[in-house]
Amino acid sequence: MCSIIGYTGKFTAASVLVESLKKMEYRGYDSVGIATLDSNNILIRKGVGKVREVDDSLQLYKMPGQVGIGHTRWATHGGISKSNAHPHTDCDNNVVVVHNGIIDNYQQLKDNLIKQGHIFQSQTDSEVIAHLIETYLKKFDIKQAIIETCKQIHGTYAFVAIFKSGLVAGARLDEPLIIGIGNNGNFISSDVLGFLEYTDKAIFLDNYDIVILDDKNINLFDFNGNAISRPITQVAWELGDIDKGKYAHYTIKEIHEQKNSIPMAFQINRSSLEKTVDIISSSKNIFITGSGTSYHSALLAKYLFYKFAKIRTEIIMSSEFEYVSGALDENSLLIAISQSGETADVLNSVKIAKQHKAKILSIVNISTSSLCRLSDHYVSINSGPEIGVAATKSFTAQLAVIYSIIDNFCTNNRPLDMSTSMFSNILNEILTDTSYLEKIAEDLKSVRDIYILGTSYHYPIALEGALKIKELAYIHAEGIAAGEIKHGPLALIEPGTIVIVLNPEDETYYNVLNSIHQMKSRGAKIIGISNKNNDLYDYFIRLPLVNKYLYPIIEIIPIQILSYYLAIKNNANPDYPRNLAKSVTVK
Ligand code: M6R
Repeated sequence: MCSIIGYTGKFTAASVLVESLKKMEYRGYDSVGIATLDSNNILIRKGVGKVREVDDSLQLYKMPGQVGIGHTRWATHGGISKSNAHPHTDCDNNVVVVHNGIIDNYQQLKDNLIKQGHIFQSQTDSEVIAHLIETYLKKFDIKQAIIETCKQIHGTYAFVAIFKSGLVAGARLDEPLIIGIGNNGNFISSDVLGFLEYTDKAIFLDNYDIVILDDKNINLFDFNGNAISRPITQVAWELGDIDKGKYAHYTIKEIHEQKNSIPMAFQINRSSLEKTVDIISSSKNIFITGSGTSYHSALLAKYLFYKFAKIRTEIIMSSEFEYVSGALDENSLLIAISQSGETADVLNSVKIAKQHKAKILSIVNISTSSLCRLSDHYVSINSGPEIGVAATKSFTAQLAVIYSIIDNFCTNNRPLDMSTSMFSNILNEILTDTSYLEKIAEDLKSVRDIYILGTSYHYPIALEGALKIKELAYIHAEGIAAGEIKHGPLALIEPGTIVIVLNPEDETYYNVLNSIHQMKSRGAKIIGISNKNNDLYDYFIRLPLVNKYLYPIIEIIPIQILSYYLAIKNNANPDYPRNLAKSVTVK
């Protein structure tokens, strides 16, 4: 939820940190701060806003010193303000800390520290870390002070501190922290994007790892102070390729990238696919979990597993998982779907499933993520970096992977024709001219509510479409199973209410037409998304003809584009929706 970066080396730290923070801003973007060490003095500058804005006003990049830490915040404890922005310092400005996560017992720790005479400057939970380290430094060296601090704090954290000696220290528990080993210095970061411009050599810290580093040495310890070692991983350089290119925003760039990312996702490595099929076939109870968009992928998987593989799966939203996990055992399989592989709710579900001895299979984009490392096996959706906070290309790639897995269960009669060349042509057709969607957005930009209807495997797409409209355009939107409207939602329909219907010609077609009649006769304005026009539609968004079972993968794309245009027309920044963050690493 927040991004952390630390650097020690030959370069001026602040300019390196500012550029790194810009790349990780997707993790949180309400305030920014940097601390550097200059001639035995710790300097701090911080402010409210995005990295570029705060850098323009405070000239962060000009701060002197070759050791530093930086942070972008997504507020949890304490409002969005300069004093709550990180870094936080101890009473004497001898140690300065940045933190990602939540310290559950911070209030009790803070009360004790205040009784001992510590003075706090923020309302955050994070500031206790600086004061605890200060206290322990009176008795111990840096290593032991960090260990004692970690023993005191409960919750989730990745934190990094710098000291006047020039040392940088960090620790993690259930939040990512990665070391980058460069020729011109070392890094410590929430994401490899923080240092990929300088090095592709990374060490992924595990839970309960502590690191102390300078520009040449990296020393790792466990919470008992024993030296430990972790492998050096070579990270793919392409992850660093996050330029907007010719596009105004990452979101629209990533929507267009689906021309390649969908066909790519269909090409799962054969042996990985076979292993996946084996794991699924040998499991008695299959649970699928995910959050937000990834949860919608899980829901679609349920329909497809039933229909084509005759396999029953139970879909559980990750944030609800801990309350309904009683039925898991050693014959169970949990399939965890996550773009980032770092979502706290998903990781928590995995942890619970592992406690029940269930197997873990994951579908992820970031193959260096915590989720991959916790899984018995993972399948990569291969989408490349997705920077826009709204999931777009990762959603359709998740669907492509799910279809590919399920296709392998249809051994006698393969109903899912997924030739990649066919897909490329279809995607070109959808994405080449989007002016009609822009016109619809102009007509819709001031509406208060939008309903999206779909039945069967179009229902998860209706939910996902509504999520896109909400988060990008700040318009209330609701996905509804078409057959359900007569059981309640019809009461909301009045003349002019906007209803988008997902209605390609397949076995759901006539049932959905019935629901459209029921709404149309109450004055709803209908936007039909289909391969076939109908007089009932006030607007018609044509889909190219594909195998009828594959429509879910393509019918979301016009809604993604419509949501993007609605955001633009409502002056919202589609890349960074208010109050959200790309990687939700807190529960
Ligand atoms: O990285 P994950 O797939 O685990 O993320 C899960 C959700 O936080 C994510 O899909 C979120 O709902 C998106 N912003 C939706 O566009």
